[in-house]
Amino acid sequence: MKSVKFENGDEMPILGLGTWKSKPGEVYDAVLHALKCGYRHIDCAPIYQNEKEVGKALQKAFKDGIVSREEVFVTSKLWNNAHKKDQVIPALKRTLKDLKLDYLDLYLIHWPVSHKEDKVNISEPGDFLSYDEAPLMETWEGMEEAFHEGLANHVGVSNFNVKHLTEILDNCEVMPEMNQIELHPLLPQDELIEFCHENGVQVTAYSPLGSTDRASAMKKDDEPNLLDNETIKSIAQKHHISPAQVLIAWAIERDTVVIPKSVNESRIRENFKSLDVELNQVDMEKISKLKGPYRFVDGSFWTMEGSPYKMEDLWD
Ligand code: A2P
Repeated sequence: MKSVKFENGDEMPILGLGTWKSKPGEVYDAVLHALKCGYRHIDCAPIYQNEKEVGKALQKAFKDGIVSREEVFVTSKLWNNAHKKDQVIPALKRTLKDLKLDYLDLYLIHWPVSHKEDKVNISEPGDFLSYDEAPLMETWEGMEEAFHEGLANHVGVSNFNVKHLTEILDNCEVMPEMNQIELHPLLPQDELIEFCHENGVQVTAYSPLGSTDRASAMKKDDEPNLLDNETIKSIAQKHHISPAQVLIAWAIERDTVVIPKSVNESRIRENFKSLDVELNQVDMEKISKLKGPYRFVDGSFWTMEGSPYKMEDLWD
């Protein structure tokens, strides 16, 4: 499978199975099916509240010889309520216990936003910690420790903008090697990708299909539907493929890792077959003319009145 390469030569499969919004009761079969199909990369996070079940599926896959631990690339993420330096390794160990693994291939800071330790979810502004109370660099030092202890082979970030990344890049001992961000044709983020690639940071595209299964509180009534976009549909028709395959192939063509979520066997297989799709320059140009930007995961849940975080802190 096509991959992206880290500094030390390790490779990360360019296509992975996303598990955000995959419910317990569904994700076990989804992970096993994906591994049987040929996926070798699973993207996880404790806030998805399904890591125990992902762990059971991984165990089953190892036991049945579908894959070995070394053959599958597993990513997870540090949640916002464990950003103090000494909270990082305990949080990572909880994730490893749930996933039934000894190490992660990649561990990311999920958001550049901190909560008090007892606040997994935020209900009022006092539940946050500001950058003065929990500096990003302090969290990063915890990530570096996790790397040195061999608990994560690679460390990185998610939802970081150029300013957040610069703070880490200027002060780190261990480089962040990944930035996982929302990317699709309505939010191509070319400049942020260029900045990342110039600085040795690989990029993963989340919500590549527009995450239509988000909770309704996270959705706007008039939001665009990528899978129903006329340009995407016409390119799909021309190549005799599905709109989802166009969107996944678009991400791969741009050398970004991509993690479409599905819990449906045939769609998991369909998404995997995007690896065989080749979009040409004309297709890519047509897609680049789509009118954006549109952010499906806009982070407004971090910016309630009185919060230390503002929209302008989050995005470039
Ligand atoms: P399902 O899990 O039932 O397959 P994203 O990866 O952007 O978060 O999008 C996930 C959403 O897209 C889910 O609702 C998922 O539904 C759906 N989805 C995944 N693969 C496909 C596909 N090939 N065609 C249409 N919808 C898909």
